[in-house]
Amino acid sequence: MRIDRGLVLALALSLAPPVMAAGGGSYPDAGTDIHDTPSLQRGARNFANYCMGCHSAQYMRWNRLAADLGISEQVLEENLMLAGGKPHDVILSAMPAAQAAEWFGKAPPDLSLIARSRGVDYLSAFLHGFYADPSRPTGVNNTVLANTAMPHVLANLQGLQEAEYELVTREDGVTEQHLVGFKAGAPGELTPEQYDDFVRDTVNFLDYMGEPVKAKRERLGVWVVLFLLVLFLLAWLQKKEYWKDVR
Ligand code: HEC
Repeated sequence: MRIDRGLVLALALSLAPPVMAAGGGSYPDAGTDIHDTPSLQRGARNFANYCMGCHSAQYMRWNRLAADLGISEQVLEENLMLAGGKPHDVILSAMPAAQAAEWFGKAPPDLSLIARSRGVDYLSAFLHGFYADPSRPTGVNNTVLANTAMPHVLANLQGLQEAEYELVTREDGVTEQHLVGFKAGAPGELTPEQYDDFVRDTVNFLDYMGEPVKAKRERLGVWVVLFLLVLFLLAWLQKKEYWKDVR
């Protein structure tokens, strides 16, 4: 049988792995999954309890979030909308930005689109990257955002890890401190594995907020591709039928 080159090409293309969105930098994989609704629900709870005191998400409405994540209005109002308001309000921090800028020296950015501008791997590394640094006003520093103005708001969960340095002498004879890793400092309420899960859920939620229709779009995409494959098969059979007597 003659192999139809068009068919082979179309099959090869349909089986090619999808191009992944760039995570940015070389941070460890955040391991998030926007199709994991329970994880997104936990992430929303984490966000409301630990982030919203300073950060807003002004492109996200509470009722949209509730509908997408299967959260009832009662749970929404009792457990997530801690600062009150109406379900059709956007997510605003109780802290005015100007006030926050004055307190922290820098305004906490709106987090609606942060996953799109930074990438989930960066966000996970950022939330894992706080370590004790007594020279900073907040008492902490961060491996991915040096001298950040954000305090380690999750220190009671993660604990406070301490940096381990290595002294490296440069070619010109100057000795520098290089951060090589962390050692456990004051313990937190969560084990390291539980903290990893906490961060994964929170970052997953930030990813969802960056593009709320993403999960739906991806699910729909599978059906579109299947439809195209069936259509292709039919068109190919029809072409064979039309041309079978023409030699
Ligand atoms: C006490 C106030 C406060 C809380 C609570 C807080 N942040 Fe922040 N956050 C800040 C400030 C201030 C900045 C600006 C830091 C800077 O630019 O140095 C910031 C910056 C950030 C950034 C931007 C980092 C970058 O690369 O520019 C992210 C992401 C972030 N916060 C995530 C979170 C998450 C997630 C939570 C909840 C777990 C949270 N923050 C809770 C104050 C806070």
